[in-house]
Amino acid sequence: MSSRYQEIYGGWKEDPENFWADAAKQIDWIKPADKIFAPDEGEYGRWFVGAQCNTCFNCVDRHVTSGRADQPALIYDSAVSGTKRTLTFADLLDEVQVLGAVLQDMGVVRGDRVILYMPAIPEAVIAMLACARIGAIHSVVFGGFAANELATRIDDAAPKVILSASCGIEPGRVVEYKPLLDSAIEGANHKPQACLIFQRPQANAALTAGRDHDWHELVEAARGAGQRAECVAVEATDPLYILYTSGTTGQPKGVVRDNGGHMVALNWTMKNIYDVNPGEVYWAASDVGWVVGHSYIVYGPLLHGNTTILFEGKPVGTPDAGVFWRVIAEHKVASMFTAPTAFRAIKKEDPAGEYIKEYDLSNFRSLFLAGERADPDTLQWAEKHLGVPVIDNWWQTETSWAIAANPLGLGMLPVKHGSPAVPMPGYDVQILDDRCEQVPVGTTGAISIKLPLPPGCFPTLWNDDARFRESYLEEFPGYYKTADAGYVDDDGYVYVMSRTDDIINVAGHRLSTGAMEEVVASHPDVAECAVIGIADQLKGQVPAGFLVLNAGVERDVGDVEREVVQLVREQIGPVAAFKLAMTVIRLPKTRSGKILRGTMRKIADGEDYKMPATIDDPAILSEITDSLKSRGIPT
Ligand code: COA
Ligand code: AMP
Repeated sequence: MSSRYQEIYGGWKEDPENFWADAAKQIDWIKPADKIFAPDEGEYGRWFVGAQCNTCFNCVDRHVTSGRADQPALIYDSAVSGTKRTLTFADLLDEVQVLGAVLQDMGVVRGDRVILYMPAIPEAVIAMLACARIGAIHSVVFGGFAANELATRIDDAAPKVILSASCGIEPGRVVEYKPLLDSAIEGANHKPQACLIFQRPQANAALTAGRDHDWHELVEAARGAGQRAECVAVEATDPLYILYTSGTTGQPKGVVRDNGGHMVALNWTMKNIYDVNPGEVYWAASDVGWVVGHSYIVYGPLLHGNTTILFEGKPVGTPDAGVFWRVIAEHKVASMFTAPTAFRAIKKEDPAGEYIKEYDLSNFRSLFLAGERADPDTLQWAEKHLGVPVIDNWWQTETSWAIAANPLGLGMLPVKHGSPAVPMPGYDVQILDDRCEQVPVGTTGAISIKLPLPPGCFPTLWNDDARFRESYLEEFPGYYKTADAGYVDDDGYVYVMSRTDDIINVAGHRLSTGAMEEVVASHPDVAECAVIGIADQLKGQVPAGFLVLNAGVERDVGDVEREVVQLVREQIGPVAAFKLAMTVIRLPKTRSGKILRGTMRKIADGEDYKMPATIDDPAILSEITDSLKSRGIPT
């Protein structure tokens, strides 16, 4: 089949409003939009202005009334607790109606924020949808973040209520959430009015009198009393959620998602990019704490009437490297989405793909990878052993859906390893130099998107329009700065090569080295430091910290390094995977005092580098090389 991509992309470019008005017909609106796009509103214009809608209604209620009541909506498969649970659309409706009523009883109304600090259990999805139902704005905080990160988000979002669970389950250890939650609330200036705690059998959380409520008790009481929340009409431009993501400082960015544009865009992607039909099973192996989880565990599949899978486990070790194939076979998954790092983990444990042969994957049609650069080796391995298209797609927390992809539903384009293929309708991708001019084909530059951004992308940062403009719009006027560098080839394929800021990508998780430096520098014995991301075969990148100790520190340097590692774990969380701290005599700098992090990274990754002309003392680079070698890092 030849691809309709050029025709569809061209149609969008010619008349973007018509394109999105057409896509919006798949959504049930309470009131249609006055304007599909209002260029003068918001920071760069707003989509579906004047429309009223409810995202939960579109994800749940409408499927119940249109014949999908008995179709599984959510299949929970926990490889770490051995639990499985299926909720039909009718079951899901019941759960969100009741939890919505509980939240309303707690005083939550339209526009209030609700923080969710939860593991990958059905209650997390139910809670997101219940917030959407009553017009509240949820903000999910990933369980691998420490109390301090949670506190920062509590202060920024100022939630009325926090929803949490007694624990998360990591292989071999139960992570108690309640002590982290208590410490976060204690450390935050803003105090929530109440917390609702879901007790899991693996840990019992002690509830704080007057503040904490038992989830199960309140839900059962509300159900018994026949309390049910109706869908609250919200503006299409009202926020559905805030999702915090790493910025260049310790203060995370609160990415805002609206209701209307988000529904239109995500629903469009399900058929056109992922090529699944309503009723089929779709699986994103991620966590609800990340944007992939928001878009493709929860909202995208449910909007489109797909069955979605919520998997609690890891690609390896829960119990083995065959668990992905077990889930695909058992639940008849048609399409799967995960990060390349998961496949690198599987490939390492099962290089010959032996486990794959044990399962019936006859329903499985495609694998999508995103979250980090998909290395060609991993892609080829997956293609060879699975025998289905393996599609890289590139996007960001800010966008909520693919900027570039190979749109299977429009007809697959040739795959080029190393490229997430072509820009999706909505995105006018251009490669710019530092004078904001387009560079020739094949030349690397700043990957930018001509404004406006399409529906689904963030309209601004929570409570911080100024930071939004400064971080994303000011450097290239008229464009959105992706902060990714790369190029476009003769066929229009985009190649995403690296970040232009200090963000690193660790096992598909986006982290700020700047934020880690702030923590490392807070250690009393550290005079200055640099944290860089170095290549890692499994996780793509891992952070490495270089410490210069204060003059006169006579303690064992190993002790200081261990304390620094522990500090990052306590302040940012285990997800930072900060395990490598090494003391050096000095850091390489330019004559004006700027630390040469780029050169350090190249040394650590064994890449060729040019001696920077402005370096203060070239001998320091040999010292850095020696430090890395002493830690077994080939340079
Ligand atoms: N709650 C508490 N701790 C968590 C956590 C959570 N929800 N998620 C991760 N952690 C901890 C882990 O236990 C680990 O702690 P440790 O240092 O004590 O071992 C640390 O955070 C790092 O976790 P992770 O990045 O998951 O690394 P891992 O070594 O446990 O597993 C992979 C490596 C590749 C198997 C894993 O990263 C993975 O499955 N990735 C899939 C990709 C993905 O989900 N990407 C998200 C965006 S699509
Ligand atoms: P996040 O906001 O966590 O989704 O991270 C977004 C960043 O991850 C992007 O800006 C890229 O740097 C990187 N990224 C995500 N997907 C890809 C991909 N397919 N190829 C290359 N880099 C990617």
